[in-house]
Amino acid sequence: MSDDATAEKTFTLTNDQTGESVKLPVQEGTIGPPTIDIRTLYAQTGHFTLDPSFSATGSCKSRLTYIDGDEGILMHRGYSIEELTSQSSFIEVCYLLLYGDLPSKEELAEFTDHITYHTMVHEQIHYFFRGFRRDAHPMAIMCGVVGALSAFYHDSLDIWDPQQRIISAHRLIAKMPTLAAMTYKYSIGQPFMYPRNDLSYAENFLYMCFGVPAEPFKVNPIHARAMDKIFILHADHEQNASTSTVRLAGSSQANPFACIASGIASLWGPAHGGANQAVLEMLDEIGHKDRIPEFIARAKDKDDPFRLMGFGHRVYKNRDPRATVLKESADEVLNDLGVNDPTLELAMELERIALEDPYFIERKLFPNVDFYSGIILRAMGFPTSMFTVLFALARTVGWISQWKEMIEEPSLRIGRPRQLYTGPEARPYVPMDKRK
Ligand code: CMC
Repeated sequence: MSDDATAEKTFTLTNDQTGESVKLPVQEGTIGPPTIDIRTLYAQTGHFTLDPSFSATGSCKSRLTYIDGDEGILMHRGYSIEELTSQSSFIEVCYLLLYGDLPSKEELAEFTDHITYHTMVHEQIHYFFRGFRRDAHPMAIMCGVVGALSAFYHDSLDIWDPQQRIISAHRLIAKMPTLAAMTYKYSIGQPFMYPRNDLSYAENFLYMCFGVPAEPFKVNPIHARAMDKIFILHADHEQNASTSTVRLAGSSQANPFACIASGIASLWGPAHGGANQAVLEMLDEIGHKDRIPEFIARAKDKDDPFRLMGFGHRVYKNRDPRATVLKESADEVLNDLGVNDPTLELAMELERIALEDPYFIERKLFPNVDFYSGIILRAMGFPTSMFTVLFALARTVGWISQWKEMIEEPSLRIGRPRQLYTGPEARPYVPMDKRK
């Protein structure tokens, strides 16, 4: 990868008014489009760039995740998502994202020990939960409780200490299933279940959600495998809204628990992680195949804010590879459980009709990861309000790996975008008795 000082390629920008030109260094990654390094642009030209939704702006260099949206490719540290979902466990993928390579047997065993060591939460957190209304949205609870971890784990808040950074990362990966399950239990009025370290990551999560202290609970292995796959599919996704939020919060040197809480808040919105809940609500509202044309027409109507939830993506202009894996999983889970969910049929019919419609074809709108995930999660027994929580649980490893990568950059500076000011020019202050 070329660096600022060694960049040999340049990009020349000419001001049409003055005819003056500036040469800007072009930096190339290992794969993907090259970038024009504009850090000196303002000093050289007195101009900022304007890209409010970051459509053409890289915010960082990263070695974690690569997406080719035109080809529908997603890779973590160079391994394709298809290989990872078919051959790795989520805990291996966590190691891969956090440390850069797939673990050896010994490394995996040691890492698993570190994670299981941290699965319990401070007992006082149980009381913290009780301050929330029973009908609170689980994501509202997660924003609060994860941020509050910084009030409980003072011994791992020094972001400049590599050992403390790792302990915080392990704590977050380990405690998210416990907190997510507690959120669910709280909402249905059942007692919290303590984690069981003899179970796998996904098994333990399902046990804490669906087990009760009154009787033994056996985790369905098909559910556990599907859950693990869902976790892998959501583990990281490059510089999306929530990851960028975590990085921006982290760039101010805020502690990692606070940063992850900011990521959870950003993920909650229906344009991002909240879409999985919105897809199921939309499918329930459509209700029957006969009503699909009506909803397709609404999605195409510019005067109607309705969008086909689970369709479209800022980066993928081809099939979202995660949706393909999830569709197969949805089939497997429903078949194996003998569940005949008419929602799956409705979703498949909606997908078929949309993919034949010129509006969706021209705009390259395909089903994304959220289109099928809700169907599997509902078959497993999760209420729709928990869907985004599961996304947050799985994405935590991506967020914390990206945060760690950023903190370890020698050139770390606070993120501080500029703006194009469009308000009033300087004007004289009007005292109260002279205002109209
Ligand atoms: N239904 C109908 N039209 C759509 C949709 C949709 N789901 N998505 C995009 N469009 C249209 C949009 O109206 C625009 O049309 P035109 O060019 O005529 O103005 C065109 O397609 C381009 O859309 P955009 O809004 O510029 O695209 P974006 O990159 O800003 O938005 C998105 C990406 C994911 C927010 C958007 O596609 C969307 O709202 N989808 C539904 C919500 C959803 O499923 N979100 C989950 C994303 S994947 C999981 C995650 O990463 O969190």
